[in-house]
Amino acid sequence: MERQLKTLHWWQRGVVYQIYPRSFKDTTGNGVGDLQGVIEKLDYLHDLGVDAIWLSPFYPSPMADFGYDVADYCDVDPLFGDLATFDRLVAEAHRRGLKIIIDWVPNHTSDQHPWFIESRSSRDNPKRDWYIWRDPAPGGGPPNNWGSFFGGPAWTYDAQTGQYYLHQFCKEQPELNWRNPEVKAAMLDTLRFWMRRGVDGFRMDVIGLLIKDKDLRDNPPNPNAPPNLPENDLFSRLLQVYNMYQDENHAVMREIRQVLDEYDDRCAIGELWGPLPEWVRYYGERGDELHLPFNFRLKDDTTWDAQSMRAVVDALEAALPDFAWPNYVLGNHDSPRLASRFGGQAQARVAAMLLLTLRGTPTLYYGEEIGMENVPIPPEKIQDPQGRNLGPERTRDICRTPMQWDAGPNAGFCPAGVEPWLPLAADYATRNVAVLSADPTSILTLYKRLLHLRRATPALYGGRYRPLDVEPDDVYVYLREDGAQRYLVALNFTAAPCTLAIPGETAGRVILSTHLDREEAVSLDALSLRANEGVIIAL
Ligand code: NOJ
Repeated sequence: MERQLKTLHWWQRGVVYQIYPRSFKDTTGNGVGDLQGVIEKLDYLHDLGVDAIWLSPFYPSPMADFGYDVADYCDVDPLFGDLATFDRLVAEAHRRGLKIIIDWVPNHTSDQHPWFIESRSSRDNPKRDWYIWRDPAPGGGPPNNWGSFFGGPAWTYDAQTGQYYLHQFCKEQPELNWRNPEVKAAMLDTLRFWMRRGVDGFRMDVIGLLIKDKDLRDNPPNPNAPPNLPENDLFSRLLQVYNMYQDENHAVMREIRQVLDEYDDRCAIGELWGPLPEWVRYYGERGDELHLPFNFRLKDDTTWDAQSMRAVVDALEAALPDFAWPNYVLGNHDSPRLASRFGGQAQARVAAMLLLTLRGTPTLYYGEEIGMENVPIPPEKIQDPQGRNLGPERTRDICRTPMQWDAGPNAGFCPAGVEPWLPLAADYATRNVAVLSADPTSILTLYKRLLHLRRATPALYGGRYRPLDVEPDDVYVYLREDGAQRYLVALNFTAAPCTLAIPGETAGRVILSTHLDREEAVSLDALSLRANEGVIIAL
């Protein structure tokens, strides 16, 4: 173990912090965040104690899906800056020891990408086959029954050429044909472009979708579709059998990985869901596909209680081959805010301690460190295509609101008198970086303490994970061990105080409590935890 820890890669030891660039810091006064804003906040991120920044898309884009509709894979949208700003960002981040991970959106382009403009211009255009075009079904209508994630059919008819093109998101996001070698080559080159500019890794958007069933067969109906789905939610009415996670996709993953391996120590993170046995294959049979298939299981697949959380972690640990490194996510730009779900604000600190003490790379989402909550968006202000098409309750805008830096105008996100692109949280005057950094017991202080402790403690960033059976079982207890260095983490998932006996241990020292008010020797025959308290104990 000692030797293994020394050879851990940065993406194994480190903590990733996701920035949604539109919402982080606006330096031009247009109400939208930009890359210069990220540069200005690098010192903050460095002090916070994260190791890598993942930037959601900043490519030139008509913004139908806020940058996940890319019109040029090798440039920066003027809204966010330019390539020179990006180069400065990489240099400034690296100077502070921070790695840069960028979003890569290989499944679909914008309908304004020159490739698609050419492709749709005529049936015999050389780029026609770069996208997925099909004749109407016999008798008319879309070629198959697939639905879009954002509502409606996954096909749009192009009257000029008399065929449909495939898009499983907005109609402005036509899907590339990854079976075409020219597409593959062009897309792989875009990875090289950014690696030459110093990018340390990629977060790969919907990577399980690249290859579709060769015959584009109809998906079967979903017998467990929730009742009362919006009428246009064709997607949820079907099982996703032929449109994603095809076996042939793994060969493409290996080719992508080979391109990253042309450069030194770059990291491939992929957005993937699905059942554990299917998901784990994305590490590759010999560890030759993704370094980190994103693991959303704690976020999406369980209820917020000690035993359910433990069951998810234990199942993951058991499923991973030796070479595979775990990772955990509790929030991102597609999900309600961590502090507004799970156990709410009361459990947000327990969530932080869990995420930052499990074995595996944690990804934080901007604002989690100040306990940002969902912000209600008036229907007329909804920006997100998912909310616009599937109903206000499905909008992802609630978790994409401006970062709250201080109690000044617009929370310090953009200048006074400018309207931010999404409304600010009502509580920003008290819930912001300036106020919370000055408070030694705030959630922000807890995040900083956890991040710095993790970084300085090999057992926490790289040691073994061993769960313990304890009573009452609504406390989740586990050990993190590296040789003689041993830590116990005990997380009370309830609002009731409790006392528990730790099997096999007699005494230890609390080095960090989520309440930030105790560091003391404790007896482990009778360890008392307060409501919603988590502790890290050195053994
Ligand atoms: C997943 C991204 O996380 C989401 O924000 C986006 O809308 C879709 N992929 C389409 O690119």
